[in-house]
Amino acid sequence: MQEQMNVLEVTGLNVYYGSFHAVKDISFTLRPGEIFGLLGPNGAGKTSTLSAVEGLLKPRSGTIVVAGFDMKEKPRHARAALGVQLQFTSFQPELKVGEIIQLYAGIYGVAMPADKLAGILQSIKLEDAADKKFGQLSGGQQQRVSLAIATLHNPTLVLLDEPTSGLDPQSRRQLWERMEVLREKGHTIILTTHSMEEAEAVCDRIAIIDHGAILVIDTPQSLIDTYRENPAVVSASRRGKITLEDVFIGLTGETIRS
Ligand SMILES: Nc1ncnc2c1ncn2[C@@H]1O[C@H](COP(=O)(O)OP(=O)(O)OP(=O)(O)O)[C@@H](O)[C@H]1O
Ligand SMILES: [Mg+2]
Repeated sequence: MQEQMNVLEVTGLNVYYGSFHAVKDISFTLRPGEIFGLLGPNGAGKTSTLSAVEGLLKPRSGTIVVAGFDMKEKPRHARAALGVQLQFTSFQPELKVGEIIQLYAGIYGVAMPADKLAGILQSIKLEDAADKKFGQLSGGQQQRVSLAIATLHNPTLVLLDEPTSGLDPQSRRQLWERMEVLREKGHTIILTTHSMEEAEAVCDRIAIIDHGAILVIDTPQSLIDTYRENPAVVSASRRGKITLEDVFIGLTGETIRS
């Protein structure tokens, strides 16, 4: 059987803000249908990495290939294969939800007849929200709208930056289910999260990054198994009940980032 092409190939990525080296020589690949998590403390470089992949930020060096398209050589093709939910989304608060979805459908060149719009709103449990102003929605409702917009054009790769921060448990579970549905439809997803529970629940593989560099990439369970007996990472008292969070703290340290 012919092997399927990687959906994303990031090689030797370096991002600088002025003289500050925010992303240090990061490389990873995403396979088709995979849900991949980027975990790391505040300021680790997660959003910067995603921004480079999204083509929103020009890396100092490295290559990014999305669905076979090099971001430098074929930026429009690469971007067309991407659906993006930013960490802080703000749509015009005065616009109605239905208008915003129509607007983005227009930008993406996707037809949006009334019944399709109704279906989208129903799928995010906001069937009565078409005529509500975006600014009147709760934070979680706004996030559901922004995810729906990120996937309007059926992108191959969906990038979600902390999609469940601030969501209640119900909305969070619903978003996990939506990610599974997206995966079943053939999408590949990369998300950032600070929730170890979420990483274990939805991610096939995770990368833990800190100070701009990738420390490990593996499945959540393999990470737990690998570090269970490693005294440099997990203290003896935790070994019996080791969680992904123990591994995370063991690898990234206990210091709060400035
Ligand atoms: N526009 C910018 N100008 C200068 N420095 C920046 C800029 N954006 C981010 N940084 C710095 O780059 C580093 C990485 O930031 P980034 O936003 O990628 O972190 P993150 O892992 O997404 O963190 P968080 O979990 O808090 O969202 C941080 O030290 C941050 O202060
Ligand atoms: Mg971030």
